[in-house]
Amino acid sequence: MTDALVLENVSKWFGGLHAVEDLTMNIPKGKIVSLIGPNGAGKTTVFNMITGVYPPNKGSISFKGKKLNHLKSNRIISQGIARTFQNIRLFKSMTVLENVQVGMHCRTKSGAVRALLKTRFETREERVIVDKSMGILEYLGLAEAHNEYAGSLPYGDQRRLEIARALATGPEILLLDEPAAGMNPMETVELMELIRKLRDTGLTIFLVEHDMKLVMGISEIIAVLDHGQKIAEGPPAEIQKNEKVIEAYLGSGLDD
Ligand SMILES: Nc1ncnc2c1ncn2[C@@H]1O[C@H](COP(=O)(O)OP(=O)(O)O)[C@@H](O)[C@H]1O
Ligand SMILES: [Mg+2]
Repeated sequence: MTDALVLENVSKWFGGLHAVEDLTMNIPKGKIVSLIGPNGAGKTTVFNMITGVYPPNKGSISFKGKKLNHLKSNRIISQGIARTFQNIRLFKSMTVLENVQVGMHCRTKSGAVRALLKTRFETREERVIVDKSMGILEYLGLAEAHNEYAGSLPYGDQRRLEIARALATGPEILLLDEPAAGMNPMETVELMELIRKLRDTGLTIFLVEHDMKLVMGISEIIAVLDHGQKIAEGPPAEIQKNEKVIEAYLGSGLDD
């Protein structure tokens, strides 16, 4: 099995706080891998290190065998890593379509700023971008809303639009930070199907999520963080029975 992403002995400290401590983890290509754990466990910090928001204090992160440490975020995105954010970060006063177009510009020759100059070459490129962006919106069931302001969409649709924008960067791995947060049960089921469908196209999924029905239902491997340390890793059936995990995180509330 080939690994897409490999974290080796990765640590991140904020002053005296060890947000992530000595984390080693492999995310195999084409799989759905989840990272779970209580609030403050360090999950978002892991995503922030992978995507170059800040470098780890120790350890190494590699993608397809190439080290990512100290690369800037835009370089990391162009390697094929995309993410969504725990707190939705859309351009709320831009349209749904424009939000996806912005994602796509990181892959084009013109770039977002130069595209504003609209030379003939860029205009042609722009048309391709619109077509591709509409294709992605269709895939996510958002095509009809393409002309609406992102900020006016219902919450669940905004979460899916974030995924659309991430997909527009043409990723090989997609990092999803609590994508089901604020979704109703029906939207969550649809999200689950969407994540599976994306995985089936060959995309690798690295998921942070609190909704245990979602996590247990779709993950092939689950790693559990507690106070920055990995306390368990394995398939869902194993994680659900793990005493340390039950004590630190799952409690007895799994069937609620
Ligand atoms: N930029 C930062 N500066 C200082 N402390 C931070 C920063 N980011 C996260 N932390 C702290 O690191 C710990 C892990 O946070 P986080 O990764 O957001 O946890 P999770 O996503 O698992 O809820 C928390 O105690 C949090 O307050
Ligand atoms: Mg978080």
